[in-house]
Amino acid sequence: MGAIQDRLIDAARVRERRGTVRATRITPGTGDSAGAGAGAGAGAFDGPLDLASNDYLGLSTDSRVKAAAIAATERFGTGARASRVVTGTLSVHDDLERALSELTGQPAALVFSSGYAANLGILTALGGPDTLLLMDEHIHASLVDAARLSRSSIVTIPHSNLAVLHDLLANRTQTRAIVVVESIYSVLGDTANLHDAAALCATHDALLVVDEAHGVGVLGAGRGGVYAAGLAGAEHVVVTATLSKALGAQGGAVLGSSMLREHLVNTARSFIFDTGLAPAPAAAAAAASRIILAEPARVDALHLVASLIASSCGVDRAAGPVQSIRVGSPDIAVRVTERLREAGILVGCFRPPSVPDGISRLRLTAHADTDHARLLWASALITAMLTESPS
Ligand SMILES: Cc1ncc(COP(=O)(O)O)c(C=O)c1O
Repeated sequence: MGAIQDRLIDAARVRERRGTVRATRITPGTGDSAGAGAGAGAGAFDGPLDLASNDYLGLSTDSRVKAAAIAATERFGTGARASRVVTGTLSVHDDLERALSELTGQPAALVFSSGYAANLGILTALGGPDTLLLMDEHIHASLVDAARLSRSSIVTIPHSNLAVLHDLLANRTQTRAIVVVESIYSVLGDTANLHDAAALCATHDALLVVDEAHGVGVLGAGRGGVYAAGLAGAEHVVVTATLSKALGAQGGAVLGSSMLREHLVNTARSFIFDTGLAPAPAAAAAAASRIILAEPARVDALHLVASLIASSCGVDRAAGPVQSIRVGSPDIAVRVTERLREAGILVGCFRPPSVPDGISRLRLTAHADTDHARLLWASALITAMLTESPS
């Protein structure tokens, strides 16, 4: 056997031993596999109970959002065909950027092909050897990769520790500093103190980059955590977002001043050297943005379900849709997730290396359209399974 094959086999064995094997499996209840895996306990409902996806407001299947995607495909075709700076900018991108600016209260938006690409774009365009990047320890992998690519000095801050942030900002030797946080953290589901972080950045002449992947559509009646904190349009605060969670589509964006947008168009390599976002998700995300603005009751329904998950599973209510339950080991997390899947309940399973603190968790995600009775049935089952496998 060749050296590469040996290496891959060894690596697979290590993953197996550590209980960290990941897989791509077709999710039951999606597309033409509807109903598969519903399980006996799922009762009269079609398909499994989704407590795992990021479609927080159920907009990926909203008839108006789907119609917008279909119309855009008919009008523009299936792809953008080129980078946005060549011939890949279409009127649907312009419309989406307006809709996102309006939703978040920001002066300008620049749409990327994913949230990952948006995060790479902002930190590589603004970072560099003269920049200190101060990153919360729980920030998303895309921001960690972006930081590395940016060639900046990087310091990781204990989670949401503003005292450490203050000291590092005050004593820095670099000319520039960028602080990177998430408005709602994806693993823990808690929120950053944006008000105080922004005030510290203002005092110390630093830029605050807020990843609102989980904040847009959720906080501030759907307009995001930065908007809710009264920071929309603040010169020293920049937002990044994904269009693939509450907006139910695909793609990403950076939101801030027009000058920032212009700078990114000219310097962000993940924008320049990447094909523009396809017309269908662009139109879908624009339609979803307008629905969120017009129908804030959807966001209220989401928070009600999040509270119900927390109370019925006996965990502290996190501010966002994601409620986390600590589990004793990666092994237990995987086993319980699998048993729940067989029972027709889809939950997220987080374990090292995706979690910086080494704690494995079940992640239960609220959706605005979750049936309350079915949720209570699922919570009882989850609690029973975890009692059998204590943490
Ligand atoms: C906090 C955060 N930032 C960025 C991303 C990346 O977004 P996308 O999936 O659009 O690339 C994600 C997605 O999981 C995320 O949770």
